Amino acid sequence: MTPPTIGLYGLGTMGAALALNLAEKGVRVHVANRTPSAVLRFMEKAGPLAEKIEGHQSVEGLIAALPTPRLVVAMIPSTAPMDAFLDEVIAQLAPGDTVIDAGNADFHDTRRRAVRLAEHDLHFVGLGVSGGEEGARNGPSMMMGGSAESWAGLEPILTRIAAQHEGDPCVARFGPDGAGHFVKTVHNGIEYADMQMIAEVYDLLRFGAGRDVRAVGKIFEGWNAGRLESYLMEITATVLSYADAPTNLPFVDLIEDRAGQKGTGRWTVIEAVRLGQSATMIEAAVAARAWSAEKGLRARAEETFGADRAALDLDVGLLERAMLAARVLEYAQGFRILAAASDQYDWRLDPVRIAEIWRAGCIIRARLLDDIAGAFSEGPPEGQLFLAPRFSSVMMEGIPALREVVTRAAEAGYATPVLSAALTFWDVMRQGRGTAALIQAQRDFFGRHGFERTDQEGDFHGPWWR
Ligand code: 6PG
Repeated sequence: MTPPTIGLYGLGTMGAALALNLAEKGVRVHVANRTPSAVLRFMEKAGPLAEKIEGHQSVEGLIAALPTPRLVVAMIPSTAPMDAFLDEVIAQLAPGDTVIDAGNADFHDTRRRAVRLAEHDLHFVGLGVSGGEEGARNGPSMMMGGSAESWAGLEPILTRIAAQHEGDPCVARFGPDGAGHFVKTVHNGIEYADMQMIAEVYDLLRFGAGRDVRAVGKIFEGWNAGRLESYLMEITATVLSYADAPTNLPFVDLIEDRAGQKGTGRWTVIEAVRLGQSATMIEAAVAARAWSAEKGLRARAEETFGADRAALDLDVGLLERAMLAARVLEYAQGFRILAAASDQYDWRLDPVRIAEIWRAGCIIRARLLDDIAGAFSEGPPEGQLFLAPRFSSVMMEGIPALREVVTRAAEAGYATPVLSAALTFWDVMRQGRGTAALIQAQRDFFGRHGFERTDQEGDFHGPWWR
């Protein structure tokens, strides 16, 4: 039987790693690159796997060598270069062929490109690939959006190269066009929130409780052996174990505190708001990155107002319980956006399968995801993760801990944007009657916007209009 065959254009870090993974799993791979010299270099580095890979000097060569219906992965920036690539290849492809964008793309672009290719009887797939270079090489988690026909061709290939969770390949088709890229975007939003939350707790332990960097790393290592187990917790513990060779200073102290961002966290927030949602923990994480970039301003404000903070020795168990509850809320916010988008775009996203394929290979893999998948398969009240019976003890124990952490941190002068957002979200959502009656009154007062009453049907105005 002939092995499944795929073309891959773009031999950057992720593309090269993916090509090697494909070859190793018995997929015949044809590769090409914008600068052809990179193909030769890649083939030299591929070692014995080069036998299963065919390098081409041009896109034409790559496309001509593929059996139809063709599968062509483009591992190039999902912005203008992707449109330029499509401009080039559309005429060379045959009806039924599929182009796969395996980068982080704005799902609106993916939807637009799917429409464009459909006009030529071609398929466009948005494939979210998570796990960084290591994942791409040895097993990523993959979120596919595209036609059923494309999935039929891709499934046997992607299940081979995906990360496995207890034998279950971490890849699924979530719907047509932009569904996969949307799920990946929200994955990254959760990634931002989780990273920021860990950084906040690091700050409290190191500068509040005065523990040295290695001790904080050890605490994280301990948590990683328990209910907070996750890839991000694990790598943070490892990062904190490094010292700078010549100075023996904690390595993290030598890194400028300005966080980069390529945009996926921001997209999550923008889409959440567009969908009438608000993922405040993700927003807080995006804000924290943006504020981190304002280094000069922060230094100026420190000079003017001082940066004093009081000592704050928080119990390690208390922090662990607080973080676990906050992590449930952070995933809950992510899944709320997914549910809203699913309704809006009629994708029928399956939250159980999303949680399942996030259990291995991706950056937000975490022990909690087993329970999240379980909670969604049981159907939590109102579809809300934080109401799931299996999380009730986590929330009952964790929320008082979260409250203590956030209030004591605030009193002592520590900023906890994500942990505070978690607590606020919880406190808003557990009030059957909130403050919006007064907002409605204000709106009616200045703009005659009208409101509903608690005791009568209809649209009303206040006595201020009589
Ligand atoms: C992944 C990561 C990956 C990448 C982020 C980083 O799932 O493998 O999310 O996609 O590391 O895009 O994003 P920022 O540069 O915005 O932090």
